[in-house]
Amino acid sequence: MNYELQITNYELMSVNPIFNPKGDDSTETRKAWFGNTTNLMQLNDVRYSWAIGLYQQMRENFWIPQKLDITQDVVDYWNLTPEERRAYNGILAYLTFLDSVQTCNIPHLKSAITAPEISLCMAEQISQEGMHNQSYQYIIETIVPTENRAAVYDFWRTDSVLFSRCEFIAGLYQNYVDKPTHENYFVALLADYLLEGMYFYNGFIFFYNLASRMLMPGSADIFKMINRDELSHVRLFQKLIPEAMQVFPHSRDRVYEMFDSAVQHECNWTNHIIGNNILGITEASTEQYTKYLANIRLRAIGLDYLYPEAKYLKSPYTHLERFSDTKKEAHTKANFFEAGVTSYVMSSGISGWDEI
Ligand SMILES: [Fe+2]
Ligand SMILES: [Fe+2]
Repeated sequence: MNYELQITNYELMSVNPIFNPKGDDSTETRKAWFGNTTNLMQLNDVRYSWAIGLYQQMRENFWIPQKLDITQDVVDYWNLTPEERRAYNGILAYLTFLDSVQTCNIPHLKSAITAPEISLCMAEQISQEGMHNQSYQYIIETIVPTENRAAVYDFWRTDSVLFSRCEFIAGLYQNYVDKPTHENYFVALLADYLLEGMYFYNGFIFFYNLASRMLMPGSADIFKMINRDELSHVRLFQKLIPEAMQVFPHSRDRVYEMFDSAVQHECNWTNHIIGNNILGITEASTEQYTKYLANIRLRAIGLDYLYPEAKYLKSPYTHLERFSDTKKEAHTKANFFEAGVTSYVMSSGISGWDEI
């Protein structure tokens, strides 16, 4: 792969014009960034055919939170230990932040995209992130007692560990908004991949772990669906980042540093909200799983394992895998532990899917 820089890092990103009649949408000149698009959604002849397949899959994943029955969870909530209830509330608050910040940030990244087929995927992603927030609201309003709901919504205000986590995540995005250099765009793009690819999953594991003990099955059902959507976002960034590494100025060392720091932050937060207090999860399993995730996410963008020790090359939670399955025979079925799709609807002709 040619990583030679094509641009200098002091240039600012430009936002696409709303309509650019002098643009050129031909597939030969079309580019993910710095193209000369008319901004019309010309999708009949595209350069990034993977984006058409991915968009189709995202649409086929369509679901409505309120159609999932979560009434058993209302009873189960009172059978959780106090530690489990605190973790349940705190993780919901954290995930609400993640999907909120995504809904806000993806439009900034999208505004510089000059390939309409990629824009299309991001438009669907924004819609899904918004809907994920609606599903958290559905869970909170249905399961959490009225007098405790404000505490969940305000968890980020009252919990200093969560607050600093939110500030750190938002800060990487805000840097680009404040100073839209090419370099900051690349960092924001990578920060997005870290969020999509690493920050949700210790939370998902918590809900699958409860479901494996016959607790909160409705919540786990909703998180299966969110999990499946998030994996489609992971796939989007796994295609964009190798492309971006050929176009934007960046340092390989900085990429590894960002992954390492993402692992530290994710472990700190998970240890704070789960720690060793939940049956089935320990600080050691959290560390193993988070480093395992970092390794597979790095490999998926063509980089090396950051944690090559054998234990970090496998997930400690394979026994929970069955709780993440969404459709037993459907082509959209995702296996989040390997971040792959067992049978991808548009896989023919798309290289690299097996690795992600
Ligand atoms: Fe989401
Ligand atoms: Fe997402």
